[in-house]
Amino acid sequence: MTNRKDDHIRYALKYQSPYNSFDDMELIHKSLPTYDLDQIDLSTHFAGRDWDFPFYINAMTGGSAKGGSVNRKLAEVASRTGILMVTGSYSAALKGETPESFDYRQEFPDLDLATNIGVDKSVDLGIKTVEAMNPVFLQLHVNLMQELLMPEGERIFHTWKENVAANAQKIDCPLVLKEVGFGMDVETIRYAMSQGIKTVDISGRGGTSFAYIENSRGGNRDYLNDWGQSTVQTL
Ligand SMILES: Cc1cc2nc3c(=O)[nH]c(=O)nc-3n(C[C@H](O)[C@H](O)[C@H](O)COP(=O)(O)O)c2cc1C
Repeated sequence: MTNRKDDHIRYALKYQSPYNSFDDMELIHKSLPTYDLDQIDLSTHFAGRDWDFPFYINAMTGGSAKGGSVNRKLAEVASRTGILMVTGSYSAALKGETPESFDYRQEFPDLDLATNIGVDKSVDLGIKTVEAMNPVFLQLHVNLMQELLMPEGERIFHTWKENVAANAQKIDCPLVLKEVGFGMDVETIRYAMSQGIKTVDISGRGGTSFAYIENSRGGNRDYLNDWGQSTVQTL
């Protein structure tokens, strides 16, 4: 049987998204500018900290030898450029699957590292993840359509809201509620905020399609590959 984490990388590389919603946006060219170039400041604040840049390497992998070699390369890029890196879901490590493939801070001590776990997991696993990784922040991913399309996926969903609330109460580091590429609806964002989660990652449709990835893993199906809202629509 092939490794699930390796399948994710393989099919993510294979997928060519038919659109990118950012192409629909046009910035108005301004002939008479107001600022000098050195007055442009990209620094920002999110997840409880100031950052030099408004972007980061988002959660992708870990949990296999191949995932580890990808993470090592990402860690090197992140530490050399001073941007943050987020590991893929840490739940594989909690099951004992190559925990060393998630953390390259020994080799790259400057690395800012955050981590990730599914919101279907109980708060105890979130606490264990934070204890093991001491991350800059913890992303709680919400991946309903991915679970539905996975033959071995989760079928119980009513606990997710309770898990968001429990994580917000019990986890002692900044939390980010994060989509995996389907966009995020406003009720979900409002619920997260009402529970004290101040940061959301709305990862929309239009880049990686986890529907495509799971359909491909499940046997060449082609079902709801373009489900969800784009990042631009969500914004
Ligand atoms: C190979 C691969 C694995 C991923 N694994 C995770 C994961 O473990 N947890 C998570 O929250 N998101 C995961 N994602 C989703 C990304 O973090 C991101 O939200 C998504 O790819 C949408 O961004 P994009 O359109 O730039 O690809 C993964 C993406 C890829 C390509």
